[in-house]
Amino acid sequence: MKFLIAAVFCAGAATALPNFHGCSLPEAQSEDYCDNSLPVSARVDALLDSLTLSEKISSSQPYDNGNVCGTTTGGIERLGLPEYTWLIETNTNVASACLDELTCATCFIGPMGMGSSFNRTNWQKKGEVFGTEMRAFNNLNWHRTTNGGKDFIGLTGYGPNINLSRDPRFGRNSELPGEDPFLNGEYASHMVQGMQEEDANGHPKMIAYVKHLTAYSTETNRGHDDYTISPHDLFESYLPAYEKAFIEGKASGAMCSYNAINGSPSCANSYLNNEVVRGWNPDIHITTDCGAVGNLKGDPVNAGSDENAAAMAMNGGADIDMGDLTMTQALENATHLGLLEEGTIDAAWKRSFTPLFRAGRFDPVDEIEWSKYGKESINNEEHQAISLDAALMGQILLANDGVLPLQDGLDVAVVGPMAEGPEKYLSSYAADDICYDGSHSCMTSIYEAIKAENANGATSVAQGCDVSSNSTDGFDEALSIAKAADIVILAVGIDNTVEHEGQDRDDTALPGVQEDFALKVLALGKPVVMVMVNGGGLAIDNLVDSPNAIIEAFNPAVMGPKALALQIYGSENRWGKLPVTLYPHSFVEEQPMANYDMSLSPGRTYRYYEGQPLWSFGHGLSLTDFTLECEKDGEDQTSATCDVANIGPMDGDEVVFVFHTLGDELRKEVTVNHPVPIKSLVDFGRISVLKGEEAGLSFTFSEDIFKVVNEDGDKVLYKGRHTLVFSRGHGDEVHIDYDL
Ligand SMILES: *[C@@H]1O[C@H](CO)[C@@H](O)[C@H](O)[C@H]1NC(C)=O
Ligand SMILES: *[C@@H]1O[C@H](CO)[C@@H](O)[C@H](O)[C@H]1NC(C)=O
Ligand SMILES: *[C@@H]1O[C@H](CO)[C@@H](O)[C@H](O)[C@H]1NC(C)=O
Ligand SMILES: *[C@@H]1O[C@H](CO)[C@@H](O)[C@H](O)[C@H]1NC(C)=O
Repeated sequence: MKFLIAAVFCAGAATALPNFHGCSLPEAQSEDYCDNSLPVSARVDALLDSLTLSEKISSSQPYDNGNVCGTTTGGIERLGLPEYTWLIETNTNVASACLDELTCATCFIGPMGMGSSFNRTNWQKKGEVFGTEMRAFNNLNWHRTTNGGKDFIGLTGYGPNINLSRDPRFGRNSELPGEDPFLNGEYASHMVQGMQEEDANGHPKMIAYVKHLTAYSTETNRGHDDYTISPHDLFESYLPAYEKAFIEGKASGAMCSYNAINGSPSCANSYLNNEVVRGWNPDIHITTDCGAVGNLKGDPVNAGSDENAAAMAMNGGADIDMGDLTMTQALENATHLGLLEEGTIDAAWKRSFTPLFRAGRFDPVDEIEWSKYGKESINNEEHQAISLDAALMGQILLANDGVLPLQDGLDVAVVGPMAEGPEKYLSSYAADDICYDGSHSCMTSIYEAIKAENANGATSVAQGCDVSSNSTDGFDEALSIAKAADIVILAVGIDNTVEHEGQDRDDTALPGVQEDFALKVLALGKPVVMVMVNGGGLAIDNLVDSPNAIIEAFNPAVMGPKALALQIYGSENRWGKLPVTLYPHSFVEEQPMANYDMSLSPGRTYRYYEGQPLWSFGHGLSLTDFTLECEKDGEDQTSATCDVANIGPMDGDEVVFVFHTLGDELRKEVTVNHPVPIKSLVDFGRISVLKGEEAGLSFTFSEDIFKVVNEDGDKVLYKGRHTLVFSRGHGDEVHIDYDL
């Protein structure tokens, strides 16, 4: 009864009932919407029918509860409807406070590393972990750390973020799984399937929203940017990952992005939201990024008034206005002014509430299998094992002259700004608590992880310099321990102070004095294993050739340092492959950040880049070696089998990519009308192969993989020579031709 008393104190505000499980309050018991013998649609209608216009708005548009981005909508006391916080981030963990010192949400490595694994099972498992933990926090009536613990963890999770890593300078690359539409779509669809796993009564564990729809890719003027995007680029690059997430993954909703596309802001873009996205599924629920509706009063649409902005967004397909109160305050008047029909508000309200009903928010807890989850379901051993697995497969061995694996017992110096300070290992939005009370004390540094593996040797550390300052004061100490060691681990990179939401990089080189420091370390002539920690790629042109081994670790977060040490010492051999192109430094002068045309010279991503990358998309070595043989299955056009033989010294994992490309003549004909990628990823498979053994990977294709996107944005099959390229991302490729 405590909450009812609280409600009395807040009389006047129609928002007082806290974020409790729906239909648990006495006022709700006799309401039809709580009658779970009725189908979901009837219950949604019953609740909507009992609301006045202002209640429809207050229950579906956030009020100001003191959060930087208001995302909590009001309750309705007379119907026993509690308030609800919609937005909980779910990109690398379920954003939440820790329950206690030992119980914080499982935090995965940064999404770039997740993309690197090319392992669909692991992506699905990550989603399952999120679903379980979100449900557990919800069952426990737990909260986020932000906003004084007033934001309760509901069942709606925002993430994964799946737009393309279009440019290494973009401040939010660390939130994304890669540069390829097929990869990002597969990642999203498998992760979402894990998140939304259903019980026997059809209750998904949680509801997943993908973001940011779409073509959001610069931070500088993000609230008002307008990008010119051709139908070709929209349907070839910017939308396919979402299409896959919605159609194959059955994602429930999306967060629309700040930017405009061809003059129409994403959150008011009726073509994009109502036609394209709701053409895939009419129920897709769209909420705005924080403050996007208020932004409509500025460029490029200059809505003029709150009523106009609110109506423009809702007519354009946005259902909930997160972060400002424009819809909350202006929707009702907008209907009186004739800017918006009440029926449009009703349709938006239904799209908002249907997922909550589906997830069982208004059902008795004993009818939901997921009610069994509690504290023991959060970051338990099983979840940690999945997270460690992801970390192992999320690191890429870019180069190795044979120095790896290291022998235990040597004298090792760990130097560079990423050697210690594990908070530098987190991607953006690795929120809220990683360790208890917001500390990073539960994280391991690269130095500590190496020291643990080097049990019979001496391990020393000195960072030498920090991430961005120009101070060389630490050089001498670090160089002297490096000089005295048998082997040097040099950990360089960038962290959240350099790239983050709201901050793009101008330059892709290592900041501060890191490159000078690295060159001095290399000049000592010791064997050097260089490790890079970053979200967006680093242009290390001057350091490419000298280290004996180079590892791309992306954002290693909690499990990454341990995974790194296990693989450096050869106790594990599970490496990933690059999910992005690593461009040379010249890229930033040749390609303007604001260019959204993928093919404009020198081109973007492996699909269009004409230059010589430092390392290509898909590249990645192993501590063992493999050979690859592939052939068509008989005359069957639609399947092929590859044999992967492990001919090296140890067990290991390999990834096989399948790319589609047009034959030269056909390409010449077609490119007269529209751009065609150099090649496009159409499938991939990951396999573990024991030393000395071989294993098969089968691929089954639909005719769709031979299609390319034309100038109108349609997928077409051109007659002529097509080729499928089977590759391990480096080394020999197998080409199979098809005359279609
Ligand atoms: C999408 O948004 C993300 C941030 O979440 C950003 O990293 C990415 O570059 C954007 N890209 C596209 C193509 O929309
Ligand atoms: C709605 O319109 C009425 C009548 O014009 C006006 O008094 C009121 O301030 C408006 N409300 C809001 C929130 O703008
Ligand atoms: C370091 O030096 C460079 C080049 O002189 C300068 O552009 C940069 O702002 C300096 N960085 C800091 C953090 O002082
Ligand atoms: C893929 O991921 C799953 C789950 O983490 C793991 O069990 C499996 O071994 C991985 N597969 C390969 C081939 O690495």
